[in-house]
Amino acid sequence: MDVLTSNLKELLQLKSGIQRLTLTDYRNYSSLRIDVQNCPIIIYGENGTGKTNILEAISFLAPGRGLRGVKLSDIKRFIPQIAPLGELTYISPLNWAVAAEIINNGENHSLATAVEKTGRVVDDTDENQSFERRIVKIDGNKTSLQSDLGKYISLIWLTPQMDRLFRGGSQPRRAFLDRMVYAFDNDHAKRVANFEHLYREWYRLIKDGKLDNYWLTSLEEEMSALGVAIAAARREQTARLNTFIEKEPDDVFPTVRLELDGLIERELDNSPAVKVEEMYADLLKSQRRYVLNNGVDGINRTDFKVYHKKKAMPAEMCSTGEQKSLLVSIMLAQAKCQTLHKGFAPILLLDEVAAHLDDVKRDALLSKIVNLNLQAWITTTNPELFNSIKDKSQFFEVKNNSVYQISQPSVMPEDIRQTAF
Ligand SMILES: Nc1ncnc2c1ncn2[C@@H]1O[C@H](COP(=O)(O)OP(=O)(O)OP(=O)(O)O)[C@@H](O)[C@H]1O
Ligand SMILES: [Mg+2]
Repeated sequence: MDVLTSNLKELLQLKSGIQRLTLTDYRNYSSLRIDVQNCPIIIYGENGTGKTNILEAISFLAPGRGLRGVKLSDIKRFIPQIAPLGELTYISPLNWAVAAEIINNGENHSLATAVEKTGRVVDDTDENQSFERRIVKIDGNKTSLQSDLGKYISLIWLTPQMDRLFRGGSQPRRAFLDRMVYAFDNDHAKRVANFEHLYREWYRLIKDGKLDNYWLTSLEEEMSALGVAIAAARREQTARLNTFIEKEPDDVFPTVRLELDGLIERELDNSPAVKVEEMYADLLKSQRRYVLNNGVDGINRTDFKVYHKKKAMPAEMCSTGEQKSLLVSIMLAQAKCQTLHKGFAPILLLDEVAAHLDDVKRDALLSKIVNLNLQAWITTTNPELFNSIKDKSQFFEVKNNSVYQISQPSVMPEDIRQTAF
């Protein structure tokens, strides 16, 4: 066993995961509390019962807009009402909240997030110009930085929407890569959010014809500095994962090769960061007049490309099941690599993960999750698909806007950990 594998095995003995999850006025749940163990957590129920909502709530324990990427105001619980004249209206409580008791390498912490009304527009990406902002509390103390959450919890999610990740526009692929970068570099989330904010401000100035050279130049300089830092972090993560995958190829899921296709990333291959920053600022300046027609080249156009190595095939040309397997392969590599680097394991949020995987791959994924001692929240409409890990998992049924525990693991992960993974 090489050093990497033995370090990883040691780190995976340390438990990291949620112990208790509490939701308040979160979508279809008025209040929900679930106590969970460090094992696969199988959440099953009919369509529309609220399985994905639980995973989405957990995703708000990481920085950003959650696994559906929605407006904060969509999440508060809508209660349908029939008005006196018979028309349908909704009332909703003012707020929603998600709280979790977690364990991170044997240390207990409490994390919570909720929305707060503000007197000004805080989220100018919202069509409705939201007056709500997400607040975060760590161990009871309010923090202004969502990125602080990354010191305590790390999440990786796969959703049915991501089954189409390799086809279509590059934005969701960049977001997928960026989430993997956050796990290694807490500031990355902040940089990406700041870049997007500056970009929107710059775009709006040009669109509105406010061509104040001093103002535009100062925005371009800020954007180029942030953009180069973002590109550098993306390159580093891609290289890190490629190296890890080469050393530790999976025995069931296909080996992937990851690449970045972007102007700024390519420049960084040949020039020092300061030079690329200058070049990027000049590029932005020269693109001012094209903004409204063609958009702007730069880190907002970078594509994260994935290849099926053995077949020498780009992911978008692989079959649906193969594409899912490629995603699982990246997720497993990231989970192991991140555990080695951060010293604690990520929590997996797997929405309908069994779809498109054949029986062998599904069972292999489940046994890998168990052997890696990862906490995985897995939704399904068919709990029988999880029979292979029945005695090692916790099962919950979702119905009538409540969650019922059906079974607990009869064998704890410590007793069943095998030597191979
Ligand atoms: N803001 C809200 N307030 C109240 N209910 C909501 C809100 N947003 C969504 N819902 C309800 O939540 C339910 C959807 O939950 P969810 O997507 O978690 O279902 P699911 O169990 O994952 O279903 P599927 O098996 O189809 O994926 C729907 O019935 C929807 O009407
Ligand atoms: Mg769902």
